[in-house]
Amino acid sequence: MSRINQCHSIADLRAAALARMPSVLFDYIEGSAEDEITARWNREAFSNYSFLPRTLRDVSTVNLSTTVQGINIDIPVMSAPTGMTRMFHHEGELAVAKASHRAGTAYTLSSVATTSIEDIAKATKGPLFFQVYVWHNRKMVNDFMQRCRKMNYDGIMLAVDLAAFGKRERDLRHGHGHAARLKWNLARSAIIKPAWLYHYLTQAKWRMANMLEHLPHGALVDKVLETVNEQFNPSVTWEDARDLMKSWGGKFILKGIQCKEDAILAAEMGASGIVISNHGGRQLDGAPATLDLLPEIVDVVGKDIEVLIDGGISRGSDVIKALALGAKACLIGRAYMYGLGAGGEKGVSRCYDILREEMVRVMQLIGCSDIHELGPHYLRKRIP
Ligand SMILES: Cc1cc2nc3c(=O)[nH]c(=O)nc-3n(C[C@H](O)[C@H](O)[C@H](O)COP(=O)(O)O)c2cc1C
Repeated sequence: MSRINQCHSIADLRAAALARMPSVLFDYIEGSAEDEITARWNREAFSNYSFLPRTLRDVSTVNLSTTVQGINIDIPVMSAPTGMTRMFHHEGELAVAKASHRAGTAYTLSSVATTSIEDIAKATKGPLFFQVYVWHNRKMVNDFMQRCRKMNYDGIMLAVDLAAFGKRERDLRHGHGHAARLKWNLARSAIIKPAWLYHYLTQAKWRMANMLEHLPHGALVDKVLETVNEQFNPSVTWEDARDLMKSWGGKFILKGIQCKEDAILAAEMGASGIVISNHGGRQLDGAPATLDLLPEIVDVVGKDIEVLIDGGISRGSDVIKALALGAKACLIGRAYMYGLGAGGEKGVSRCYDILREEMVRVMQLIGCSDIHELGPHYLRKRIP
């Protein structure tokens, strides 16, 4: 039996990723902003709810399938966008897209991906979203959207939580922003990870694959911080988001909504969905746990716009709790990144299998046979 099959939880996949990956890269996945309080709150928020199980009900079959943005998905979980994924495992974004589609769900490609819009679309058949930022170089963003249109992507996800880049201190300590120091630290941490190192030495260089024609330095990943700092535009407003939505003309999701006032603005703007997200705690430390925001946001816009959520999801029970509080579906980031780091496509598939099995079991144990019947009546807020 392979090491991946011996992983029985997302925590096991995390341990396997830690064993296989250079610590500099593992920390990039694991780390959050400043004191990493928001990332911890994201996790803890799930344990503030207990289940109220019903019994003696027929739960011989459980329906987990639903729709996101009108697309059928087999499980209420999809992949969040994550950048530069080939650094963590040589199979990179392709592995995540293929495993997501095998699990019957949607994949979201990041703007700073190491695999191109076209290569993902050609290699996979399932639903695809593409994540953008409103960058200084609007020509580049428009080019991304045009290419997505040509390759039949199902929607655009605009990340709105990056008016400035989060202070991720693990990365700063490893030398992010200082190419020579970062390279040295990566080399030191990679020398004891032979499986990862072999592929690093024998595979093509990591490049930000969607920007090859737009960046003078060949879009090498070493330049990612430089690019991000050059491109991030702190003057972006709702007007810009509206313009982008209009020029896309299809399904358009705002990712990074963190209060009910902005959720209302998103609905008024005519966006087709929001993701309640704090970037997994990687941006503003001190932002609330996403699950804590969910009930009040669903209360004000739940009828007008599709509400998705991410942050801290590492158990099937977390997904069921979010659905019971009104989310249409959940996005996962680190959970599948651990699977990827541990074993490429196989590891990501294992992540989805674990979550699916856990969701079915929880549904049976709470006496609910269809996720569409979930509601707050299945939960009780714990008194701390
Ligand atoms: C390694 C890593 C890279 C990420 N890259 C991006 C990105 O390129 N664009 C983006 O919108 N969000 C990015 N995110 C945030 C995720 O889309 C998502 O919001 C977050 O991971 C959810 O929290 P979780 O990791 O606790 O599941 C990244 C997250 C991680 C962990």
